[in-house]
Amino acid sequence: MAEKAHSSSSIMYVVIAIAVLLVVVFVPLSMLGKGSAPAGNTDDADQRIQPVAKVAFQKAAPAAGGKARDGAAVYGSVCMACHASGVAGAPKAGDKAAWAPRIGKGSAALVKSVISGKGAMPPKGGGADLTDAEVKAAVEHLVGLSK
Ligand code: HEC
Repeated sequence: MAEKAHSSSSIMYVVIAIAVLLVVVFVPLSMLGKGSAPAGNTDDADQRIQPVAKVAFQKAAPAAGGKARDGAAVYGSVCMACHASGVAGAPKAGDKAAWAPRIGKGSAALVKSVISGKGAMPPKGGGADLTDAEVKAAVEHLVGLSK
């Protein structure tokens, strides 16, 4: 029994010695590795140089077969540019506190604001080719995300 205890404690010493060695040898190595990584890893660099926010006025993608674009499609191509991140003070999609007072005005009033533009939001959110029905669908989609 005593013999067994002795041998297991010398295994402990070996394990500790290996652990110390790993720390001493590999931690500096991995720090070196990090220093030279960006040369091969441009994804990372691309991510870091992204602008904080992008504002883009885009044309909404044309609807297939002349059908009206649905709210999600219009939101994704036009409205998201500001409302996903809150550019220019736009109430952020999903921010219930920011949306509650606006939703309270009723959906017709919101649609009207978007069609004619409001504050930093251009008419139709910049999607000049949107029909009123498409604007309405996009407002409903955005409100749905934020309730
Ligand atoms: C250029 C950025 C921008 C784009 C693009 C944009 N918005 Fe806005 N939106 C804003 C800003 C800023 C406000 C806040 C205006 C204010 O209250 O002064 C706003 C407010 C709103 C409101 C609240 C209006 C009110 O009366 O309180 C709705 C609804 C809305 N946007 C929907 C949309 C929809 C739908 C689209 C796409 C068709 C869109 N927005 C595109 C910037 C944008």
